[in-house]
Amino acid sequence: MFDASRRTLVVVGAQWGDEGKGKLVDVIAERADWVVRYQGGANAGHTVHIGDKKVVLHQIPSGIMHPGVRCAIGNGVVLDPEKLFSEIDGLVRDGIDVTGRLYVSERAHLVMPYHKLMDGASTASKAIGTTGRGIGPTYEDKVARRGVRVLDLRNPVRLRTLVEAGVANANGRLALMNCDTRADVDETMVALAQITARLLALADDVGLQIHRALKTGAAVLLEGAQGSMLDIDHGTYPYVTSSNTTAGGAAIGAGIAPTALHAVLGVVKAYTTRVGAGPLPTEFGEPMQTEMRTLGNEFGATTGRPRRCGWFDAVVVRFAARVNGLTDLAVTKLDVLDTLQRIAICTGYMVDGDVHTEFPADLALLEHAEPVYEWYEGWQQSTADCRSLEALPRNARLYLDRIEELCETRITFVSVGTRRDQMIGMEAGVV
Ligand code: GDP
Ligand code: IMO
Ligand code: MG
Repeated sequence: MFDASRRTLVVVGAQWGDEGKGKLVDVIAERADWVVRYQGGANAGHTVHIGDKKVVLHQIPSGIMHPGVRCAIGNGVVLDPEKLFSEIDGLVRDGIDVTGRLYVSERAHLVMPYHKLMDGASTASKAIGTTGRGIGPTYEDKVARRGVRVLDLRNPVRLRTLVEAGVANANGRLALMNCDTRADVDETMVALAQITARLLALADDVGLQIHRALKTGAAVLLEGAQGSMLDIDHGTYPYVTSSNTTAGGAAIGAGIAPTALHAVLGVVKAYTTRVGAGPLPTEFGEPMQTEMRTLGNEFGATTGRPRRCGWFDAVVVRFAARVNGLTDLAVTKLDVLDTLQRIAICTGYMVDGDVHTEFPADLALLEHAEPVYEWYEGWQQSTADCRSLEALPRNARLYLDRIEELCETRITFVSVGTRRDQMIGMEAGVV
């Protein structure tokens, strides 16, 4: 994935999240010097399997399993320090040392206890089905210019002023939500004092570090969280997360120039899933819903919630290819389709007799949309041990060829199982 002219690669989810970004980043990080998370926070759950061990990363980049790789949490991330420390401690228990190779942007905003309280109490959050990690309220405070950044921990006087503003706002909002719990300035300051030294030891100017690394020819992976359809601007608003999950957010959130982004890999499942509320045009009915959820083990890596499943939606992925400028596509979980007799790809939405092939901005259009499907014969044999395109059953290759054609993006990876080695890499030397 990296060569002399391609030193940076953004990895984005091209559906509604949980596409297998963690696995792809882990595999590609073998060749990288740095991996940077650029948005979101502990709402993400990125699964990496190494041997028999399964690790779910929430804020730490998925390159951390490679001892030589440096990992950074960029300014665009909203950081939950306690969760970060428990993640670090978990890695250390698994024998993974992060000392001296994990950095946190001093510009990153902190998720405060009152942000989580607000996310939990808000009926709007419930309607969207948020992860309850305080993500939306933290980004709200960031945009309202009363957020607390990592660097504020260095200045207790300024910190207290910011906390006072944050607590006052939170308590006003909690009262409006009819929530009885209130945030408290002193309690918040005590909680912050407990995380300050450990967090400041990781704090750095991440954008500057990446800039310098790129100048020396380093290969940098930028790890997106969530998926393109959860992007605050391009996703199924308001059923979205609160950050720019798409590739444009990578430059902003890592603190590097847009011209420093060289390639963008979109990760897609061979079908579609979504957690939480909002449109999912190809959603299965029963009994297919339960069958696919079981076959794909579709339960959220962060909240354990069942994921909603549907057929592959080429309208969605073609849209994601456009807004992200995808240069490559990785198709994951092909093995989950192994036993199916027939498999469908959605190529458009039928609305009042018209077929729409572009994803609409107005969700009202989707309310009465009927997906238009192309049907394919299943391959009904295991792909789990296939390690080259040629080794895949013919029907699986036909299916992938059609995805490539409809999404106007070349497929560079096909994943056929949870393990690192269960990967077909179409570029020599990638896996
Ligand atoms: P992420 O948020 O995009 O990193 O994805 P998650 O980790 O939330 O969800 C992807 C799930 O699919 C994880 O449980 C992975 O272990 C699993 N997975 C990834 N690739 C494959 C694959 O090719 N086949 C199968 N069966 N599972 C996979
Ligand atoms: P990864 O990185 C799937 C969804 C939530 C909810 C909406 C808003 O593992 O792919 P938030 O807590 O962000 O305010 O919730 O976004 N969501 C995800 N869905 N994968 C994720 O992350 C998600 N992060 C948030 O379910 O619908
Ligand atoms: Mg996930």
